[in-house]
Amino acid sequence: MGKKAIVFGATSGIGKELAKMLVKDGFQVVITGRRIENLQEIQATNPTQYIIEQHDVQEVTTSEIVFEKIVKQLGEIDLIIHSSGIGYENPELEWDKESQTLQTNILGATKIYNLAFKLFKKQGFGHLACITSIASLRGSRHAPAYFASKAYQVNYLESLYLKTKEIKGGNVYITDIRPGFVDTKMALGDGIFWMAPLTKASKQIYSAIKKKKRKVYISKRWNLIAWVLKIVPSWAIKKVM
Ligand SMILES: NC(=O)c1ccc[n+]([C@@H]2O[C@H](COP(=O)([O-])OP(=O)(O)OC[C@H]3O[C@@H](n4cnc5c(N)ncnc54)[C@H](OP(=O)(O)O)[C@@H]3O)[C@@H](O)[C@H]2O)c1
Repeated sequence: MGKKAIVFGATSGIGKELAKMLVKDGFQVVITGRRIENLQEIQATNPTQYIIEQHDVQEVTTSEIVFEKIVKQLGEIDLIIHSSGIGYENPELEWDKESQTLQTNILGATKIYNLAFKLFKKQGFGHLACITSIASLRGSRHAPAYFASKAYQVNYLESLYLKTKEIKGGNVYITDIRPGFVDTKMALGDGIFWMAPLTKASKQIYSAIKKKKRKVYISKRWNLIAWVLKIVPSWAIKKVM
């Protein structure tokens, strides 16, 4: 039987591209997101390999129901990709924007991470690959909730990686994918530099997933920025950004 994957947040951008690559590689792929018309459009390109589930990750109780339904339908799942996410430039700290970001990127994400981890623990195998961000490394005066939510995701995923120690066999993998700027509607800010084309970034992400990497920066040149971000003091960031 062929391999099976779920991609959370596959209606556009990185998730959609990764789902396409999985289908090309013979996977049966469940794609999710809120925009049903996008899901239907994607499914129409390959009705046998795509399964669609309209779903809002903020509704964590529904996440459980949707997840159970998929597992019941497909049985064992090899790979779960979490790409759902939102972010806003929010200089005035509008509460709705901060709150929406936390509900999607923190509460919504944690529920998916939990469901995936518990399933893989039960199965004794599986791979959870999540799109976090280079934004996880520092704060930002432009998008505080987004940057903080990405730091949370990175730490939570490290915890899950550590928890794989509790699973016998060593066949559960956690991959943390940290893009810089990728050319989707999510890319925050004006005058964006080093913007990776979506197809190039997605190919690099897919390759990292296949290698079951623990963490990866996308595109490769962002390794350099990450290195700088980790050592630069806050006062210097305050001065230039
Ligand atoms: N583009 C960049 O520069 C960049 C850089 C670093 C990290 N990232 C991360 O990459 C991930 C994917 O973003 P992208 O760049 O591919 O942008 P995108 O095209 O906007 O994709 C975001 C995906 O998340 C889904 N989503 C958002 N809110 C959701 C909700 N409440 N419930 C279910 N799905 C939801 C969207 O689906 P619906 O709207 O249909 O629900 C869409 O499929 C995000 O986590 C983002 O933070 C992006």
